[in-house]
Amino acid sequence: MTDKTLPRHSGRCLRYALLSLAALTSTVGHAGEVEVLHYWTSGGEAKSLAELKGMMTNRGHSWKDFTVTGGGGQNAMAVLKQRVLGGSAPAAALIKGPTIQEWAELNVLTNLDAMAAFEKWDELLPKVIADQMKHKGRYVAVPVNVHRVNWLWANSAVLRKAGVTTLPSTYEEFFAAADKIKTAGYIAVAHGGQDWQDFTVFESVVLGVGGAGFYNSALVQLDKRALASETMRQSLDVFRRIKSYVDDKASGRDWNVATDMVIKGKAGFQFMGDWAKGEFLAAGQQPGVDFSCSAAPGTDKTYTFNVDSFAMFQLKAWEAQKAQGYLAYLLMGQDFQEKFNLRKGSIPARLHMDMEKFDACAKASSKDFVAASKAATLVPSVAHGMAVSTAAQGALRAVVSEFWNNDQTTVSDTMAKLVLATGTRPR
Ligand code: GAL
Repeated sequence: MTDKTLPRHSGRCLRYALLSLAALTSTVGHAGEVEVLHYWTSGGEAKSLAELKGMMTNRGHSWKDFTVTGGGGQNAMAVLKQRVLGGSAPAAALIKGPTIQEWAELNVLTNLDAMAAFEKWDELLPKVIADQMKHKGRYVAVPVNVHRVNWLWANSAVLRKAGVTTLPSTYEEFFAAADKIKTAGYIAVAHGGQDWQDFTVFESVVLGVGGAGFYNSALVQLDKRALASETMRQSLDVFRRIKSYVDDKASGRDWNVATDMVIKGKAGFQFMGDWAKGEFLAAGQQPGVDFSCSAAPGTDKTYTFNVDSFAMFQLKAWEAQKAQGYLAYLLMGQDFQEKFNLRKGSIPARLHMDMEKFDACAKASSKDFVAASKAATLVPSVAHGMAVSTAAQGALRAVVSEFWNNDQTTVSDTMAKLVLATGTRPR
């Protein structure tokens, strides 16, 4: 069957069903172009995306990068808004968490329900992820992975030379190890001074000091008593103490440049999500040999998730819609979910995948994701847009980075600013 024989019906739902069928049966002769907005420009990110580009072009479709640099994606959303409001939306964009809802409210996203039903996505996704991909019960985005954020990465040789024999599981152990690394002449903590990176460290500290329940109260529910509590005070004290182990050239440094400092043995540790593992792998390094992954201190029984997903925008041209449909089909497919995540450092969003080819860090992440789901210690990353609105995320990030950057800013002032920045919330 070719697309030409498929009848064109006005009904939107039927149209998407036909689109899904067309996407799955489309032959090379009816190629379309997909333009995709993303910010995956580092070594590991680019290699993982290349897997997807190859699959699309092998099918005869063409791929157009709409790349906006700036890890964490804050620049990309501003540019995307201009394009969409100007009536020239890309086929898909790397949009995550509650931001999906903000775009869906504008009625600019494609309804993917026909594809989702055809491919049984509801059976293939953890509910917490499937729910994030839907607006008013309809699929409008496709998840490609699960990143764990609460990781501590370490250069094995640096720790060995510094006499650090075990990976720290508490902050007392962490600071003792960091002191040894500094004494040995290395930078103890590699960090990039950008607000999303500062918050990536901060949320892992809050999780490690206060636990999942406190994390959810303070950073997800934005409860004012939690934000002004003694536990928040302790968290801010630990967070500031980490700053003293970072080199003085960190301001503005990109996250992958900081990761490269650990890869090259200039620094001992980095607090970062497991997209950092994509950089170690791209540099030809092996976990357990050249580097190690361990839960950030105090967080080994918890899991901060960050799901990358592509929201699909409504398109006018039939060929473009078909290419978009095939993109959605590919993204949830087993082949892509394996090949992409092996390079990205994350684990598949799709359940029941064979994890045999994945390394020990990914296998631990997969096991811990399930355990944390069952223990209700699976928490959404605030730093990476899983938990609160874009506005609330921006307000929190600004207060925390002000505290990180300005040693004169007190803990008490910061707690008061956190409460003000998020407004008051009844418990
Ligand atoms: C995160 C994104 C990851 C990675 C990271 C650094 O927000 O989910 O896939 O790209 O930023 O850019």
